[in-house]
Amino acid sequence: MDLAEIFPPFGLRITCGPLELRCARETDVPIATRLASRGIYEPGELPFLRRWAEAAEQELALNTAQFYWRTFADFRKDDWHLVFLVSHEGTPVGVQDASAKDFVHVRSIITGSWLSREFQGRGIGTLMRQAICAFGLDELGADEMISGYMVGNAASAGVSRKVGYEPNGQIRGLHPDGDRVRVEQRVRLVPQNFVRPPWPVKVEGADEFRAFIGL
Ligand SMILES: CC(C)(COP(=O)(O)OP(=O)(O)OC[C@H]1O[C@@H](n2cnc3c(N)ncnc32)[C@H](O)[C@@H]1OP(=O)(O)O)[C@@H](O)C(=O)NCCC(=O)NCCS
Repeated sequence: MDLAEIFPPFGLRITCGPLELRCARETDVPIATRLASRGIYEPGELPFLRRWAEAAEQELALNTAQFYWRTFADFRKDDWHLVFLVSHEGTPVGVQDASAKDFVHVRSIITGSWLSREFQGRGIGTLMRQAICAFGLDELGADEMISGYMVGNAASAGVSRKVGYEPNGQIRGLHPDGDRVRVEQRVRLVPQNFVRPPWPVKVEGADEFRAFIGL
């Protein structure tokens, strides 16, 4: 038996022109770690809720491995989390994730993403968001795609705007440094506003995945 027959997320492969998203496996941990440790944002900035990417490489690798293993081990029909390694023209560039609770009824998917710094600002972030939205809306029948970014994150805001998301409220919380407020802008995409990518999105393993999550 192939592992993808046991755990269908491993059989998912989403392609769109030069872009490929496939479910990360533990063998991808060194690749994702290398991409993150080369830097995701400028010193002084923080686009995430935690400072996970700033750990020393050895610690980051272990944290990444344990994070992947947790997503596999905790995967449930009514509470799932997919982590995709993203490649552009065959070169790994970053990570795109997607998660949902009670998806069969609620039909809402939350996504997040990052690119290693050298691959930012070339349209890849827009394309990977369009690919994951096509997967969620067309293949899984989501009614909405949800994302969010820290106010001031122009690149993430730019991606959301270009893909057709609309503002969906703000969440205030404590900055991870513990000394100030951080404000997260939530955004929402509904199917009729989706700005599609310039290439068709193809998905392998969708039938098996749909059955696995109870669709
Ligand atoms: C956010 C991220 C995934 C976006 O991907 P990207 O490939 O850099 O973005 P794109 O090249 O597709 O740009 C999308 C739009 O934002 C604009 N943009 C990109 N970087 C920008 C910047 N630094 N400042 C202002 N605008 C920017 C682009 O101009 C583009 O709009 P346009 O085509 O109208 O000009 C990527 O920059 C990243 O990984 N950043 C660090 C981690 C992060 O912020 N993750 C998201 C957490 S919510």
